[in-house]
Amino acid sequence: MARALAASKAPSKAPKKAAGLRILMVASEAQPFSKTGGLADVATALAKALGRLGHDVTVMTPRYRAVAAGAIVGTVTIEVASHAFRADLHEVTLGPGARVLLVDCPELYDRRGIYNEDGKDYPDNAVRYAFLSAAAVNWASQQAKPFDVLHAHDWQSGLVPVYARSLTGKIPGTVFTIHNLAYQGLFSKAWVPRLGLRWQDFTIGGFEFYDQLSFLKAGLAFASAITTVSPTYAEEIQRPEYGHGLDGVVRARRDVLAGMLNGIDTDEWNPATDPLLPQPFDAAHLGRKAASKKALLEMFGLPADEHSLARPVIGMVSRMVDQKGLDLIAAVASVLPALGASFVIVGTGEPRYQGMWTRLSELHPDRISAFIGFDERRAHLVEGGADIFLMPSRFEPCGLNQMYSMRYGTVPVVRAVGGLVDTVRPYNPRNGQGTGLLFSEYRPDAMLDALGRALSAFGNKKLWTRLQKNGMRADFSWDRSAAEYVKMYKRVRRIK
Ligand code: ADP
Ligand code: GLC
Repeated sequence: MARALAASKAPSKAPKKAAGLRILMVASEAQPFSKTGGLADVATALAKALGRLGHDVTVMTPRYRAVAAGAIVGTVTIEVASHAFRADLHEVTLGPGARVLLVDCPELYDRRGIYNEDGKDYPDNAVRYAFLSAAAVNWASQQAKPFDVLHAHDWQSGLVPVYARSLTGKIPGTVFTIHNLAYQGLFSKAWVPRLGLRWQDFTIGGFEFYDQLSFLKAGLAFASAITTVSPTYAEEIQRPEYGHGLDGVVRARRDVLAGMLNGIDTDEWNPATDPLLPQPFDAAHLGRKAASKKALLEMFGLPADEHSLARPVIGMVSRMVDQKGLDLIAAVASVLPALGASFVIVGTGEPRYQGMWTRLSELHPDRISAFIGFDERRAHLVEGGADIFLMPSRFEPCGLNQMYSMRYGTVPVVRAVGGLVDTVRPYNPRNGQGTGLLFSEYRPDAMLDALGRALSAFGNKKLWTRLQKNGMRADFSWDRSAAEYVKMYKRVRRIK
């Protein structure tokens, strides 16, 4: 009664301002705090883009080792697996309307690695990421001004939509984004009660996957809406070939599934301002890219004389895992040195692929050089200095490196799959249209054929420059996709 009276006393004559949404994202990586792959770039860049559109975005992510502290704005204490974990929440501003909350729980996150150490997953990853999800929901419950949407990314935050069911009052809608269906967060079912989950949800329609607990499936089953990071991948994951055993689950929820293409952070990845390049360049001053090529060859210990500089440089920056098509390269490793190009590789991952590149570098020290490790500086220099960027992925939900490459006038050679199809336009030698070279069949000869086409285009300076400029002028900004996310958030938020 009192409440109704108060409400009727506050007639608002002022025109209603289009209210920004309050969005809480949950991601296990975020630039510049932590990164193993594209999720880190996307979590931060999407939050910044939404902030620029006038929304209020918070990204919750673990405070891993060596990440600087921010101002402590709250605390959560949650019991997971019979142990009470406490975390301070450190706030760091990303930009207008966007901030990160670093979940500081040293017991869980202050370690040498992010997900693993010496190739072995941490045995308590179920606890580490159940806690992250629970912390986000707990923080949401503490807010006087509630969130409209909880947006979870990948398996590490798959339990967010499950835990969110405990919220009362104005309940936010939940969105789950698949960045990669291959990583599913599978754990023994013994974890179900220990993580505060209900056996009645351990079903085919819930989070059970072949008698194990799947964090990813929890996200797919319980979120109000599902997105993935390109329209083509959204189609592909509904087929067994790309479904990693979950295509049936994806099909069952296709009415709430949308493929929204990732953008890139055009400030971070801008050849005209990139402090990690020796000399800035843009489409109007493409000649200045030569300084990056020289610096790249020198940094990688390859010959950088005039003759060598004239030769095309093929670059790769990649997690060294099956997804990235490294077995195709292994199949033709012996012919690579005969292609008339130099190779520079930056990557880390499976020992067999690391070993392959190390061996190739030792065998052909004047043509091939690989850096095994994670290195932001080298990654930028490869984008800036290489002529061709190779990405022969077996599958690729979106892929960011092909977009970074195009922006830096480095022509991508990619397999026509997932987001690579949606971002690289095939080069047509007759009219000079297109931004890269594609091949379809997952076969070594098909990849070599595409590389051959790229190398022959490189031989025609006029055509090559056009191809480079086509890519440099393409729009890969977040603007369009961020607006699509907003539309989707508005559909799922629940107004009470
Ligand atoms: P994925 O997320 O599948 O690894 P993406 O292309 O979406 O593929 O994103 C990969 C991101 O990680 C890019 O920003 C890329 O530059 C970066 N990256 C991958 N490996 C390395 C590495 N060894 N050193 C530095 N950056 C890397
Ligand atoms: C995943 C995918 C990659 C995508 C990235 C960001 O790691 O493998 O294709 O670009 O997430 O969405």
